[in-house]
Amino acid sequence: MKKQAVLLTGLLFAATVWANEPAAPAAAKGDAAKAQKIVNDVCGACHGTDGNSTSPTYPNLSGQHPEYIAKQLNEFKSGARRNATMAPNVAKLSAEDMVNLGAYFSAQLPKAKQAKDAALVAEGQKLYKGGNAGSGVPACSSCHGPAGSGVPVQFPRMAGQHGKYVVAQLKNFRTGDRANDGGKMMQTIARKMTDQEMRAVAEYISGLR
Ligand code: HEC
Ligand code: HEC
Repeated sequence: MKKQAVLLTGLLFAATVWANEPAAPAAAKGDAAKAQKIVNDVCGACHGTDGNSTSPTYPNLSGQHPEYIAKQLNEFKSGARRNATMAPNVAKLSAEDMVNLGAYFSAQLPKAKQAKDAALVAEGQKLYKGGNAGSGVPACSSCHGPAGSGVPVQFPRMAGQHGKYVVAQLKNFRTGDRANDGGKMMQTIARKMTDQEMRAVAEYISGLR
């Protein structure tokens, strides 16, 4: 019962957020082909030219929603999301480049990966799907989807993301180092999570497909 209540709260929360969100501007579609040169010259070195990075410090971008990618690029440039590695890479990007890069990486195929630690995965799955009624952590699935595919335009895809990157972002949300989540949705959630919950849910997410 309690579990369902948490899930429901999460869903209601998400529904409220959607209801309050202004209609997305007539989405600029973006031209993936126009992004190819920037990908080859700049982004590919860290994120992989197909958006599947080989180092867990660099997030996978393949299959991510184009609007989310463009939003993050915008915010790295404005400083709303602070990161010393990304800042120089976006300094020269135009708004159009950002939309094109979103179109490019969202069209790349994610590579399925296997989570490694079965016990952690089980623990993470419980939190991902049911939340933690005791501490008020909502189910991640209520916003990021049961299979981690996210919900465009607001809720990013999670499936197959590097566990190390996921933990790092959760910690950044917890401290407020990352504060570009509209409505502080993720900051509020991360502050209720333990380190162990972060590790477990990240391990589960890394194997989602
Ligand atoms: C030198 C390595 C490096 C290069 C080159 C680089 N990135 Fe990144 N990128 C990173 C790191 C590290 C992060 C994680 C930043 C953080 O922790 O907030 C990141 C994060 C991102 C994110 C946020 C992903 C998410 O899931 O929130 C996007 C989008 C992104 N990069 C796109 C690009 C694009 C497009 C380019 C080329 C113009 C590029 N990056 C070039 C290292 C790099
Ligand atoms: C109420 C909706 C909501 C719920 C519930 C939620 N999230 Fe999020 N999450 C968001 C939004 C919105 C963003 C995007 C923030 C932004 O635009 O930068 C996000 C972003 C993230 C990111 C950063 C992704 C990236 O690529 O950098 C991680 C990691 C994350 N969430 C993990 C979780 C986990 C783990 C849970 C469950 C414990 C969870 N979220 C529950 C709304 C939610």
